[in-house]
Amino acid sequence: MRLLFLNGPNLNLLGTREPGVYGRLTLAEIEARVRDTARGLDPLLEIDFRQSNHEGELITWIQEARGSAGAIVLNAAAYTHTSIGLRDAISAVGVPTIEIHLSNVHARESFRHQSLIAPVCRGVIAGFGAESYILAIHAAVTITKA
Ligand code: DQA
Repeated sequence: MRLLFLNGPNLNLLGTREPGVYGRLTLAEIEARVRDTARGLDPLLEIDFRQSNHEGELITWIQEARGSAGAIVLNAAAYTHTSIGLRDAISAVGVPTIEIHLSNVHARESFRHQSLIAPVCRGVIAGFGAESYILAIHAAVTITKA
């Protein structure tokens, strides 16, 4: 099974971006942890791990997931709070999607408390740093087997 990990704007800056909020791991280091965990769980799990600063590119990748990915793990970053386009793409393709965040968005500024995508996602994982990505692999495997 293929799991598609999508990362939104500014997540390419992880490692140096507000380390007190987002930790010191780079996105490449998080990707390596995801790949290690997936390999240990099931060697047949295929991980596709991408980042874009562009809303439209993320939407295109969600559209392309139909029929090619068992689940999407989405850290939409700031687009979580603004993007009807991402929400509509998730609804349109019907691929089970797990919303994730490094930080606990509910413990932060009020504009981060609303997610436009959460209502069309299977579930949300937030606040565990890079571990949010690892928890999401387990969740993705569980929901795709159910
Ligand atoms: C984030 C939380 C968002 O509010 C923020 O805009 C991000 C990262 C997180 O992973 O904690 O860029 O998605």
